[in-house]
Amino acid sequence: MPKLGERYSRALITGASSGLGKAFSEGLIKEGLSVWGTSREPEQMQSSDQFTPIKLDLTKEREFKEWFDHWDSESGGFDVVINNAGASCFGRWETMSAADVEEQIRVLLTGPMQLGRVAYRALIGRGQGSLVNISSVAGEMPIPYMTAYNASKAGLSAFSQSLMLESPKRPPWIIDFRPGDYQTSFNKRMKKRLENDSECESVWNELEKLMANAPETSAAVSDLISALGKFRHCTRYSGSFVQTSIASMASRLLPNALKRYTLRSYYKIS
Ligand SMILES: NC(=O)c1ccc[n+]([C@@H]2O[C@H](COP(=O)([O-])OP(=O)(O)OC[C@H]3O[C@@H](n4cnc5c(N)ncnc54)[C@H](OP(=O)(O)O)[C@@H]3O)[C@@H](O)[C@H]2O)c1
Repeated sequence: MPKLGERYSRALITGASSGLGKAFSEGLIKEGLSVWGTSREPEQMQSSDQFTPIKLDLTKEREFKEWFDHWDSESGGFDVVINNAGASCFGRWETMSAADVEEQIRVLLTGPMQLGRVAYRALIGRGQGSLVNISSVAGEMPIPYMTAYNASKAGLSAFSQSLMLESPKRPPWIIDFRPGDYQTSFNKRMKKRLENDSECESVWNELEKLMANAPETSAAVSDLISALGKFRHCTRYSGSFVQTSIASMASRLLPNALKRYTLRSYYKIS
């Protein structure tokens, strides 16, 4: 397959300081692109000829237009924009504060949609490029006690699918990227509201086991590069066979009650 760098030159990646975002940055640089990668603390990232760290806090930005236009013009114009940044909170719905919920929806859904709005407009004006939304299989197969996360990821995938519907045969190419578990710092950074709740603690321990046994991020990078290289709209599952192929098929075929039963068994909820 020809390198992506033959068609694309510059990528913007949110949440490039760790985990999947960092791996995507390194992968795209190897493909010959220059990357502008965001963090709330960009000074913690190493800059290079191919990598420019830039500041973005999705809980603070509202309009995104000024921020995006500035970096789009500084970079010379992005060909690829990846909504990757994410953070979440674990615990029973009734223990979540209004701020917990608001923050997750901003980081995982409304922020990416607003950034997606201005980026899409720029890409459509250029008649080329790709907009990637890093969603999750959790949007279809919800993770217990991560309600705002599951709902936001379902919304983010619906956002991608809606854009694909608006312009079926022309760029910007939309990629609805749905990973299963990958080994990153996501769980470590998660705010936990366990409240001495044994069921929550037991599900949390299951999530920790899944993360410890999850594939390394290099597999997600290959899947993303292959999806970008198709130069068409694409819904891409990425991760272990059980969490992607089987789970996505089960989510489409099983009645909802059976799906919930299967999920409760999978996460060992009595
Ligand atoms: N790992 C998995 O198993 C998995 C599975 C499915 C989907 N995903 C999705 O993949 C994406 C990346 O997650 P990851 O696993 O790589 O997690 P991670 O290692 O914790 O990385 C999260 C990234 O998001 C950034 N971020 C967090 N809060 C932010 C905010 N308020 N504003 C701007 N940036 C913020 C962080 O940057 P700073 O802290 O430097 O600002 C960091 O670079 C997320 O959207 C996640 O939902 C992950």
